[in-house]
Amino acid sequence: MALKITVIGTGYLGATHAAAMAELGFEVLGLDVVPEKIEMLRRGEVPMYEPGLEELLRRHIDGIEGSTGRLRFTTSYEEAGAFGDVHFVCVNTPQKHGEYACDMSYVESAFASLAPHLDRPVLVVGKSTVPVGSAARLARLLAEQAPAGEAAELAWNPEFLREGFAVDDTLHPDRIVVGVASERAEALLREIYEKPVAEGSPFVVMDYPTAELVKTAANSFLATKISFINAMAEVCEAADGDVVKLAEAIGHDERIGKKFLRAGVGFGGGCLPKDIRAFMARAGELGADQALTFLREVDSINMRRRGHMVELTREAVGGSFLGKRVAVLGATFKPDSDDVRDSPALNVAGQIHLQGGQVTVYDPKGMANARRLFPTLGYADSALEAVRGADAVLHLTEWREFRELDPAVLGEAAGARRILDGRNALDPELWRKAGWVYRALGRPQA
Ligand code: UDX
Repeated sequence: MALKITVIGTGYLGATHAAAMAELGFEVLGLDVVPEKIEMLRRGEVPMYEPGLEELLRRHIDGIEGSTGRLRFTTSYEEAGAFGDVHFVCVNTPQKHGEYACDMSYVESAFASLAPHLDRPVLVVGKSTVPVGSAARLARLLAEQAPAGEAAELAWNPEFLREGFAVDDTLHPDRIVVGVASERAEALLREIYEKPVAEGSPFVVMDYPTAELVKTAANSFLATKISFINAMAEVCEAADGDVVKLAEAIGHDERIGKKFLRAGVGFGGGCLPKDIRAFMARAGELGADQALTFLREVDSINMRRRGHMVELTREAVGGSFLGKRVAVLGATFKPDSDDVRDSPALNVAGQIHLQGGQVTVYDPKGMANARRLFPTLGYADSALEAVRGADAVLHLTEWREFRELDPAVLGEAAGARRILDGRNALDPELWRKAGWVYRALGRPQA
């Protein structure tokens, strides 16, 4: 009999994982404690923008015309417990308010709600990003609270998907990492991931703490790479160098690599910023804080980018934002997503607004989320509308739509032809030819 799978939590990670498991041929039950989310998913509506996800879900959701019917949803842990042979826990672990540590309450409550319904041998697989040591603790909790006792086993299987590429990253992962405590757990996970492994994804088996650490280590490395290049951008600005050329040239060295060397307003989102902070907090608890002090610098270089963008803009509009209009192109933390969590774009927009500037934001997909989070900012329905009458235009999220804008047309609408490219993604020549003063982070002014 084929394995039956439950996926607990239907956010980015869970919704994508549930759809991917159905695509791999399993019967899947997705669970969320928010009834409205479940109602939407049952209708085939996805609560977030993620390319390809809605199609993938609709291909499998029971009750949708032409679907395989392999994917259903519930709010009941009792139903999930009765259904699943393998339970994936995909709830989020946000940063705690006012602290570096991550908030484990959703994970704790998922385990506490599921355990009493586990009365036969099952595998519970944690996918959430957690502080190292959590898995061992949760495994003990399962053994104590599940009627099945130690037959309710735990594995840790971190997820490396990127927003905007979530579907592809889940179906064709560049590695599958599993932290296990038994051969049975490893065998079950090998069965689940048989297809991607056959297609070439490496399957790397390890213990719990290493699996937990792989995730935070990977995100810390990526954050470090971005802050490194942003530090080089600071030096380039001081020395009149060009960080884009520098990144290209060092990236030719395969040991360094070209990816994640795009200098700009820095990293944001629901993962990188909070993961490096939670990692520092956990290392402190373990008495290993010295090992990660460099991450404090990674974080502060990153936050400095936002302030620097505000400074450059203030300078560009003549030294004060009072009475000045600033157009902000981009609200999401990266393109091809509607996620505005810890978005550098909105942070910059918010700072300028607080300093008296009249800010108008436009984003292709992030408007609803941005309006909810920053209701006092101005919003426009198009880039052209946002730019109308602006004293400066800021390019803060590198959507393709913005690269395809016609600087001549925008120039007609703008109050002044001044653009600051916070993502080094526009073509400086194109904008300069159309009469714009183009300025980018870490590049010579002219
Ligand atoms: C990240 C990890 O990449 C992924 O493996 C993990 O599972 C979750 O966290 P994500 O948050 O979707 O994924 O975004 P990512 O593509 O990593 O970008 C993060 C931020 O870094 C964005 O704000 C992006 O604009 C910024 N970034 C990225 C740069 O500023 N420069 C770069 O060169 C690359």
